[in-house]
Amino acid sequence: MGVKMQRIAVVTSGGDAPGMNACIRAIYRAGKFYGVEVYGIRRGYAGMIEGDFYKIERHDVGNIIHQGGTILGTSRSREFMTPEGRQKAADMLLEHEIDGLILIGGDGSFRGGNLLSCETGIPIIAIPGTIDNDIPGTDFSIGFDTAVNIALESIDRIRDTAISHGRLFFVEVMGHTSSFIALEAGIAGGAAQLVLHDGHEEIEELCNQLESLFRMGKHHAIVVIAEGDQPGCSFGISKKVSQRIQMESRVCVLGHTQRGGSPTARDRVLAAKLGISAVSALIEGQNGVMVGELMREIAYHPINDVVGKIRDPDPRITALSKILTGY
Ligand code: F6P
Repeated sequence: MGVKMQRIAVVTSGGDAPGMNACIRAIYRAGKFYGVEVYGIRRGYAGMIEGDFYKIERHDVGNIIHQGGTILGTSRSREFMTPEGRQKAADMLLEHEIDGLILIGGDGSFRGGNLLSCETGIPIIAIPGTIDNDIPGTDFSIGFDTAVNIALESIDRIRDTAISHGRLFFVEVMGHTSSFIALEAGIAGGAAQLVLHDGHEEIEELCNQLESLFRMGKHHAIVVIAEGDQPGCSFGISKKVSQRIQMESRVCVLGHTQRGGSPTARDRVLAAKLGISAVSALIEGQNGVMVGELMREIAYHPINDVVGKIRDPDPRITALSKILTGY
């Protein structure tokens, strides 16, 4: 058993993800249930360094369960990546008498949180919140399901116009270096081809596949592209393919639309489970762990074991996508 938790704080960091608000609400409610005060830290680690803390009250978390974004705000703080920045943040946590911290974010945020916990001993529990779904130790991270559904809705809309004009479309989805959104939205949206940047030269193969589809009588096609580490890469791909197969094409980069909007039921329920489990983990004296969900069971992993270990999609799903496309 570690320090008795009387006052805990929650911070959202890095890219926001739909469901973060549902998670903050669950943390507040779990705090009430266990008799622990919950503080919010505004603007991520930048706000932590500046001491931008406030006590969360019931009205702060009223009517937020359906809202995307994060009521706390977020940031990607360079200062926090320095030992001096983290020391300032630790001093602020001490000044506000915070006994434990819950961090909602992705890999970059976990890296900073892990260093803070190791350097200062402040108990930290991390919750995976990123649309990219690339965090090991959990089947899903908060926001992924919503992002996939938003991408899917857009793909369905594009299909209408692609059919009407008999056009080739390239739809680029987010995910940074991870292909989870492209894979799931592509499968669900009936993409003719997927470009997942999984290491092999795709353009020639893509052109051959598309040519064969058009020869078979298809008169439109949607190719879903993972942005990879170069957002906007689909413009270059579309140009090369159009020149090579002599067919006009259009590009749609879905971008940040995938990060906004009301979270799906799955994201809200996941957020509730992880938020409540994070509060109980702090009360039980756990420190330096990430709480996730594996096969519907809550699972805890040392943050050290998950940082920097970007997860790839299950190869069985990638194999399945190859059966579904190209025929
Ligand atoms: O939150 C993850 C993510 O949305 C990635 O998919 C994307 O590449 C990146 O963040 C964009 O981040 P920003 O524009 O906020 O810097």
